[in-house]
Amino acid sequence: MDIPDELVARLRAAQNVVVFTGAGVSAESGIPTFRERQTGLWERFSAEELATPSAFERDPALVWGWYEWRRAKVLSAQPNPAHLAIAAMEKHVPHLTLVTQNVDDLHERAGSHDVVHLHGSIVRPHCQRCRQPFTAQGSPPSLTADTQKIQPPTCTHCGGHIRPGVVWFGESLPTLEWEAANAAARNCDVFLCVGTSAVVYPAAGLTLIAHRAGATTAQINPNPTELDGDVSFDLKGAAGVILPALVQKTWAHECGVAI
Ligand code: OAD
Repeated sequence: MDIPDELVARLRAAQNVVVFTGAGVSAESGIPTFRERQTGLWERFSAEELATPSAFERDPALVWGWYEWRRAKVLSAQPNPAHLAIAAMEKHVPHLTLVTQNVDDLHERAGSHDVVHLHGSIVRPHCQRCRQPFTAQGSPPSLTADTQKIQPPTCTHCGGHIRPGVVWFGESLPTLEWEAANAAARNCDVFLCVGTSAVVYPAAGLTLIAHRAGATTAQINPNPTELDGDVSFDLKGAAGVILPALVQKTWAHECGVAI
């Protein structure tokens, strides 16, 4: 698809840029998004049923098993051209804030710095009771229909269950991260919203916060979302195609950027 010249001009002139990402940015790395139908072992479950405090309370081994399965996917995945393009933008934009809903570490592995993780990190579990960090040992075991459930480890300090280091439905976002994301959205010139269905609040509200504050907003997503009609530019396509093209067109003149 053609990258609009007007968006390129605004991005080139911007002092403050926010890139806000969701599961779609990691889709091309092979990590399943949340709202697509789950397959294989997990087809009977939805993310909303597994990513809650009450699900963990009811069946900790089922929820821990699901997160171990996702953690294995993350560990074997590699950053894709979308992650690399976002990392490349850091070199050209005076102030870039990268805010993600993703719990993987693919932005960091692509070279992005100071990533604001609104929903926590799958690679940093902690004790549910005393919050002591827990270092996961080795690779997650491979799961079968018989071993789908994995008993979570026990905290060596207090004996509580270790839980995934992510924010579940119904839980508050981490305060510092949310305040940083909010301030960046209110004060940016350009806000790029990439690969999110924009249905999970409060994170989903960031694009409209930026839009109402006067920023140029652009959405990059191959599918319709809640934000259709509410952004300045709607780029329908895969992040791994559009973001490299956007970076190339915006900054190629500076140093023959190749990403
Ligand atoms: P979703 O699974 O809701 O949405 C993923 C979005 O990515 C969809 O809009 C897809 O159309 C889009 N997409 C798919 N492939 C893409 C590609 N190659 N390039 C660009 N976009 C693509 O994921 P999120 O919006 O991130 O929260 O979900 C938000 C939150 O809900 C998650 O952080 C998680 C989830 O439940 C918690 O766990 C608290």
